[in-house]
Amino acid sequence: MSKTISGFSKQSKEEKINWLANNFFSDANQGIATLNQYKNSNKKLQQLHDEFIENTISNFYIPYAIAPNFIINNKPYAIPMAIEESSVVAAASLVAKFWSTRGGFKTQIISTTKVGQVHFMYSGSSANLKKYFNTVKASLIEVTNPITANMRKRGGGILDIELRDKTTALENYYQLHVTFETADSMGANFINSCLEAIANSFKNNDLQDIKIVMSILSNYVPDCLVRAEVSCKVEDFFTENPEYYAQKFIEAIQIANVEPFRAVTHNKGIMNGIDAVVLATGNDFRAVAAGAHAYAAKTGAYKSLTHSKIENNIFHFWIEIPLSLGTVGGLTKLHPLAKLSLEILQNPSAKELMQIVAVAGLAQNFAALKALTTTGIQQGHMKMHLMNILNQLEANTTEKEIIVKQLEGKVVTHNAVAEALKTLRA
Ligand code: MEV
Repeated sequence: MSKTISGFSKQSKEEKINWLANNFFSDANQGIATLNQYKNSNKKLQQLHDEFIENTISNFYIPYAIAPNFIINNKPYAIPMAIEESSVVAAASLVAKFWSTRGGFKTQIISTTKVGQVHFMYSGSSANLKKYFNTVKASLIEVTNPITANMRKRGGGILDIELRDKTTALENYYQLHVTFETADSMGANFINSCLEAIANSFKNNDLQDIKIVMSILSNYVPDCLVRAEVSCKVEDFFTENPEYYAQKFIEAIQIANVEPFRAVTHNKGIMNGIDAVVLATGNDFRAVAAGAHAYAAKTGAYKSLTHSKIENNIFHFWIEIPLSLGTVGGLTKLHPLAKLSLEILQNPSAKELMQIVAVAGLAQNFAALKALTTTGIQQGHMKMHLMNILNQLEANTTEKEIIVKQLEGKVVTHNAVAEALKTLRA
């Protein structure tokens, strides 16, 4: 028995599971039974999932849900979300309904440019490098022609290549900063293939000492930007004392703009909505999260991704966020649930998906700030979390029904649920 192994990836799934069970499971049979429970009985579907990554031993489920009643640019949407956090979908649904009677969400694509970079070191004369770059620039684009042909047919391709001198930040460091339009695909593989072809051609040159360090897309996409907003008369913002609560809402954003400890949580709430839709549509949520947080820090201080103001007695609330998404390529059409999500969203273009995702983020932040500045977050959150607590305490269906009724309108805490269950069982 050994907790390390060589040749693991070459083993069959069964062998992998047996090795794991023998070395890491406290109860081998129980562990194997759990893994088997999550396997799909449809062999072809299971194989598809197994082939997404290496060393698969089962599937890991998270809930897949729908937040209906979103009106975006006057068009209704039911938004699919994949997320484990109890209150996120409930909050999205409530906010969708709230704004559906106040004009809905309005969105706008600001830009769709993506970036990739060839990072290299060069210790020779900067002027010579510039001269060399200018003579080969057209050929650098030309060498990518076989890769970009299809993309160009779809309206995408390489927009420009710039030589950037970064030597004041790091000795001898230069880059080829390449901008792309990737149409309906997120474009990661396309961009990386173009960059490697460009780098290969660039280094085969008369300037002997160009050392390519790496070629890779950037997940920072400040020029792939979408805006989503809602607005209403201040008196329609809240039933009781709307001016007071609208002002508190704005102050909550002002606080996030000056206090990074708050801003990170504020933006995390936005990402609850964004990541859930990004994941449900088979897009890369790590790329989106990295890009969004970098954008939140674009001024050098980490700030809110959302904004709010009152102007001429109108309450405005909006988000501006970079989102690099695809509706073709990657897992979008390969993962059956991602494909279905896109169908539920009425087969959007990448631009439309950017707008829907931005709305999901804005809605989530609206729900959080409204709760935080009125009742507090725990009332709604714990109400939704009640089922998790009951499951943890192994309540049966009848006990769940009774306790949910008993705790209606009351503050839910772990202790209150445990006490209620104890009394019921006594
Ligand atoms: C929890 O997942 C998200 C919140 O903390 C966001 C926020 O505080 O704005 C509720």
